Amino acid sequence: MKSPPRPPILEQASSPQEFRRLGHELIEQLAQYLTEAQSGNSRPTLPWKSPEDCLEFWSQFNAKGSFHELIRQTLANSVALHDPRYVGHQINPPLPVSALASLVVDLLNNGMGVYDMGMAGTAMERLLLQTLSELFGMPTTAGGFMTSGGSLANLTALLAARARLTNDNVWQRGNVRPLVAIVSDSAHYCVDRALRIMGLGTEGIYRIPVNDRFQMRTDLLADAHSTIERRGGHVFAVVANSGSTSTGSYDDLESIADFCEMHNIWLHVDGAHGAAVCFSPRHRHLIRCIERADSVTLDFHKLLMTPAITSALVFRNDQDSYRTFAQQAHYLFADTDDTEWYNLARRTFECTKHMMSLKVFSILKCHGTEIFQAQIEYLFELAKTFAEMIRCHDQMELAIDPPANIVCFRYATASWNSHQIDQANMRIREQIVRSGDFYLVQTSLRGTIWLRTTLSNPKTTTEHLATLLDLIGRTGQQININDDPAHHSLSTS
Ligand SMILES: Cc1ncc(COP(=O)(O)O)c(C=O)c1O
Repeated sequence: MKSPPRPPILEQASSPQEFRRLGHELIEQLAQYLTEAQSGNSRPTLPWKSPEDCLEFWSQFNAKGSFHELIRQTLANSVALHDPRYVGHQINPPLPVSALASLVVDLLNNGMGVYDMGMAGTAMERLLLQTLSELFGMPTTAGGFMTSGGSLANLTALLAARARLTNDNVWQRGNVRPLVAIVSDSAHYCVDRALRIMGLGTEGIYRIPVNDRFQMRTDLLADAHSTIERRGGHVFAVVANSGSTSTGSYDDLESIADFCEMHNIWLHVDGAHGAAVCFSPRHRHLIRCIERADSVTLDFHKLLMTPAITSALVFRNDQDSYRTFAQQAHYLFADTDDTEWYNLARRTFECTKHMMSLKVFSILKCHGTEIFQAQIEYLFELAKTFAEMIRCHDQMELAIDPPANIVCFRYATASWNSHQIDQANMRIREQIVRSGDFYLVQTSLRGTIWLRTTLSNPKTTTEHLATLLDLIGRTGQQININDDPAHHSLSTS
């Protein structure tokens, strides 16, 4: 039988020669981007456009088939995380070696759901999870997998917690008793979202207030438990923060683990941001007792210079991770009770999954764990110095001593009331971001607005931070507090 005629476009578009040509050009272009971005002065950190202008720009964009031009404009219209003046969200500037590994991941496009669709990636993933379990100090029963983001990892962990408590019955019968999770008041919004996806509703989420360091008030846990039981609810999980989103605060895991063990409750640690300190002997104490958690989320794309999305979910007892998704997919898995660690879709929400392990494995093989340690220790030290600079500045107020690499502060003058300070800081941040001079974000703490910086870039120095404080001071002085605040589309944290 003859094959149907193959359209020439298919041949041309996948030719190795063309790939080589475009690839060489692309590497040159990206190396140039890195040089400019890292210099911190030859392009804006964020070349701000309104959403409407941006849409208009791309709808009019005509690259005339030029990949080079498409990438040039993409670079010119994106926030540059490699710029030392990028001090915004928690996502890190990725290391070049890991970005190159991402290219391999995308070209190979192994699906990872079953072993034969991701042999190398599956083995690397197992080894990475072993490394993390050991660094956390967990027993040899520990294990886990990688999944697409901290939000999905948190949902998956909470599903496992519920499956253990209900002995998998929920898979067949849905929620049959009023389950409740206890979470910190400063939990990331994805925890609330996960619990609502699980059908727990408002009644199923019990929020514990935080102390003046934004840590869960563990002295309130026992009362919370009695209140929930008295109302007929049953606590199935406690979610602790190891590095909260707004301030980078670490909960007291020892007290929370004591409480969970006493009541046989699943302890999940949302360490998406801060569990990375397992790589730093100097800061490891922040996650003391993490080995007693039933599950831990860690995002490599936050503190650890890995391209998104690259998250790990560690279980103290790996067997727990097989309960979460109990259904059979006959075209994928043999009908067996064997846990088959190498068939990852048995345990992950994803069917097709990114081969994310290579992005981390490439860093470990090329630079070793020392690079993670160096990154964490540099950024945490820089945050402490920045806090000191803020404390010494007579127009700035520091929210708390930074527990990690996140620093919250604000511009304040004695003549403004609290509402005016909020308005002024929102406007200061907006003006600075729009100017492209720095990229920083804002957050709300106890109902007031603070500027928030996440120091993520090892190229950022105290000189950059002094310039930022100076700029904030000058911008603040020029603000007429009685003007109407402009509408903007910038993010908060
Ligand atoms: C503490 C914490 N948990 C979870 C998440 C969500 O992670 P992801 O953005 O990878 O879904 C974040 C994101 O900022 C976070 O800070």
